[in-house]
Amino acid sequence: MDVMDRDHTLEFLNQHVKTDMLMKHLFTVEAAMRGYARKYSGDEELWAIAGLLHDFDWEICPTPESHPTFGADILREHGYPEDIIRAVLTHGEHTGIPRESLMEHTLFAVDELSGFIRAVTLVRPNKSLDDVTPRSVHRKLRDKNFAKDVNREDIIKGAEELGVDLGRAHQLHSGKHEADCRAHRPDCRQYGRGLIPRPIF
Ligand SMILES: [Fe+2]
Ligand SMILES: [Fe+2]
Repeated sequence: MDVMDRDHTLEFLNQHVKTDMLMKHLFTVEAAMRGYARKYSGDEELWAIAGLLHDFDWEICPTPESHPTFGADILREHGYPEDIIRAVLTHGEHTGIPRESLMEHTLFAVDELSGFIRAVTLVRPNKSLDDVTPRSVHRKLRDKNFAKDVNREDIIKGAEELGVDLGRAHQLHSGKHEADCRAHRPDCRQYGRGLIPRPIF
């Protein structure tokens, strides 16, 4: 059994994740992690699995505060490597565990942002990610009445940790990486292409 095999992780998720909504979020963050692993020359499979797993325990945690520590223990028992477990633990600010690796900073940066991009996508006329530009994302970020439950502070902090200026984000790699993500994740199509985020940093 290779825990780093993507199919194995999908089976693991099937056992722990109850809702489509959470699966969509995990797939979205996975796609973003793949895009950024290529941009930053990270280990794409490692980063992708971290993205897939980061919230797997959300629906089974005894309390919201015990996420993701509760899940980290399960991952450890299951044999996932420590760098995955650290990434999962450090995406939760309240664990107090400092983010160190680029993978950890990236996971934190894309987590909240991916939900925000999805919200921006859903208010476009065609509900298509193709119509979402970094500019439109920035405009919506400044609109305090839009997607109020998305934590802007985490998005800004995530960008700062990556050393990128959110206010001057460009389409550095958006088109190609998005296409690559889609090509790489054909089974994600069942959830709609609009759910795969376009990297905007
Ligand atoms: Fe989380
Ligand atoms: Fe998340």
